[in-house]
Amino acid sequence: MNVSPADAVELLSQGKIVAVPTETVYGLAADALNPAAIARIFEIKNRPADNPLICHFFGERQIREYVTHIPSATEILMRHFSPGPISFMLDLPADSPLKFATCGSPRIIARIPDHSLFLEIIEQLNRPVAAPSANTSGRLSPTTAEMVEKDLGEKLDGIVDGGMSRIGIESTIIDAGNGDEILILRPGAIGSAEILRVLPDVRIISQKVPGKSVTPGTKYRHYAPSTPVFLIQNIEELGSQNAALMLTEDQLTLLSPMESQKLNEQSIDLLILGSMDDLNKLAKNFYHKLSLLDSMRIKKAFILKNDWGDTSLGKAIKNRIEKLVFIQD
Ligand code: TXA
Ligand code: MG
Repeated sequence: MNVSPADAVELLSQGKIVAVPTETVYGLAADALNPAAIARIFEIKNRPADNPLICHFFGERQIREYVTHIPSATEILMRHFSPGPISFMLDLPADSPLKFATCGSPRIIARIPDHSLFLEIIEQLNRPVAAPSANTSGRLSPTTAEMVEKDLGEKLDGIVDGGMSRIGIESTIIDAGNGDEILILRPGAIGSAEILRVLPDVRIISQKVPGKSVTPGTKYRHYAPSTPVFLIQNIEELGSQNAALMLTEDQLTLLSPMESQKLNEQSIDLLILGSMDDLNKLAKNFYHKLSLLDSMRIKKAFILKNDWGDTSLGKAIKNRIEKLVFIQD
């Protein structure tokens, strides 16, 4: 059910759960200080109880009210890139009211989202807003209100429709608490190249976000559509089957006439992810395109291995592809 930002503020203040637009992906929002509302998020998402929630703030000043301090490198990056698709690991004081959102961890991941409707909601509520991506655990992050509706619709108290998310993949998560070293815990649109432009002397290390990378009890990795996706090196591996092939426009034009003919002869549906010439657009449409797989009535999908390049967005897309391919065990 679509609700206005003003309704969303009212619902959140009553401990209700509302999906909200952000520039990265849609979030499943709750008052971060309300333990019952936090518990409902875990229930709705079917999220493991020890997987903490990112908290959203409307500005640096509001973040300062809750954390012990903002280390200088974080402060510089925050002033440069926030509001924007970047989240920061920070320390909480003992017995913080945000301990429910962080599952008891003394560290929080804080983000100032760059979406006017969501910023307006947080400011009006005047409390931090916990908001993991608005999908069932292990499924694709939604980038449109329709995707949220399809996955979680009846479980929610409302959805604020803010159009398609501009970036399309989740925020970069960094830990810049340690002086000269910056850990990238999750790659995103802002990466080492952008960070080094602002802080030329830091050392950047990529490290996985602590917590679970595989949802227990499933064979799928994070962000997967229901249709199993397999990575292949070349189209010879396709065989003939009821399947879809995902590739970029660039890869399609590089196929030999024989390979193209083979695709034509087999009943292989093509899903063009976009072009390497415009990775912004490709990232923006990425989850939405993947969500189409499940309505194509195919058994399997294949993704043609690609060199996603060295840009931050290229690395982030490669990371999301690694997370969605089927693990053969
Ligand atoms: O772009 C984004 O970051 C989106 C939008 C809605 O803001 N949110 C998002 O949240 O992607 P989520 O929950 O799907 O992913 C956040 C990741 C999870 O892997 C979670 O385990 C980790 O961040 N995380 C959150 N808080 C944490 C904490 N206090 N300590 C360690 N890891 C944390
Ligand atoms: Mg998520």
